[in-house]
Amino acid sequence: MTKRLLRVLRGEAVWPPPVWLMRQAGRYLPEYRALRARAGDFISLCTTPALASEITLQPVRRFGLDAAILFSDILILPWALGHGLRFVEGEGPVLPPLKPRDIDALDPDRLGDAVAPVLETVRRVRGALGEAALIGFAGGPFTVACYMIEGGGSKDHARTRAMAYRQPQDFARLIARLTEATIVYLAAQIAAGAEAVMLFDSWAGVLSPLLFRAHVASPAARIVAALREAHPDVPVIGFPRLAGTLLGAYATSTGVAGVGVDTGSDPAVIARLVPDATALQGNLDPLALLAGGAALEREVQGILEALRGRAHIFNLGHGVVPDTPPEHVAALVSLVRRA
Ligand code: CP3
Repeated sequence: MTKRLLRVLRGEAVWPPPVWLMRQAGRYLPEYRALRARAGDFISLCTTPALASEITLQPVRRFGLDAAILFSDILILPWALGHGLRFVEGEGPVLPPLKPRDIDALDPDRLGDAVAPVLETVRRVRGALGEAALIGFAGGPFTVACYMIEGGGSKDHARTRAMAYRQPQDFARLIARLTEATIVYLAAQIAAGAEAVMLFDSWAGVLSPLLFRAHVASPAARIVAALREAHPDVPVIGFPRLAGTLLGAYATSTGVAGVGVDTGSDPAVIARLVPDATALQGNLDPLALLAGGAALEREVQGILEALRGRAHIFNLGHGVVPDTPPEHVAALVSLVRRA
């Protein structure tokens, strides 16, 4: 029997829709915080298969979700290519701000050894899963480039956008390098047991339409085509967050099996922009999940109604926030299941 999530990614409308949540493993779960304390730092947590596989499984066990998402981070890729990375408590990721000469120093030959523990996590989780599907992932090359160029998080990604306009050749070279490494990395996750893969392009929406095409949609199209050659049956979910009306062209031009819909997009409108055969994933406001109660019920109903009859995977429009009460996640899953 094909898993429910994978049926939707083949274009089938499954009712009630399968449900999983971006950032479903993390600080809002006490069992995560306990293991996190044992690992010391976040990179060790991501690269210790016994801990990372347990954390991947925690929310699936607790809530009976339709998918497990590999526990890792999008910034493990630049780290594995030899670019520095630290996670600073209360601050988030810190990377050395990228200089043009750093681009050629990104070393694809390091990748295999560096991500070996992540692939071992994939193997262990796949062996332990029942009905739930295992999703592997990587960052979209543009979003990974943002963190490398800014040296961490940023409000407006001004340095990154300025570089894309002022040093277009360097910028394109960086995106091309990251794109090729992402293909190798995702293909390895699939070979290790990932049943679907997702591209998190969280900052895609800060780009102009022309740059979006060049640095978000084109790399995604290249990744989808390369993965399809080796693994024709493994679907790719693309999430160019904040893409707005560009989501339609993104879906068509990349050939992704599904697209993530962010919180601010009207699912009924997106459903008209995106081809019927492309699954839609989303798009509950993470703050409605935090709030719970009647507000949560209303928001969930609205999304279910808007996408009824459509290939839909219920999810958030962005990740679970750390203060979310775990009982609200349980309530959400039962709201979707009772639909
Ligand atoms: O979704 C999951 O449960 C799987 C694991 C996962 C993490 N990060 C774990 C994590 C995934 C898929 C990600 C993706 C990710 N990481 C994105 C794209 C999605 C998005 O949220 O926009 C981005 C931009 C990152 C980069 C990143 N990692 C930031 C900015 C931070 C710090 C802010 C924060 O939320 O803590 C991280 C750290 C991180 N990644 C944590 C987790 C559970 C928190 C680490 C901790 O325990 O302190």
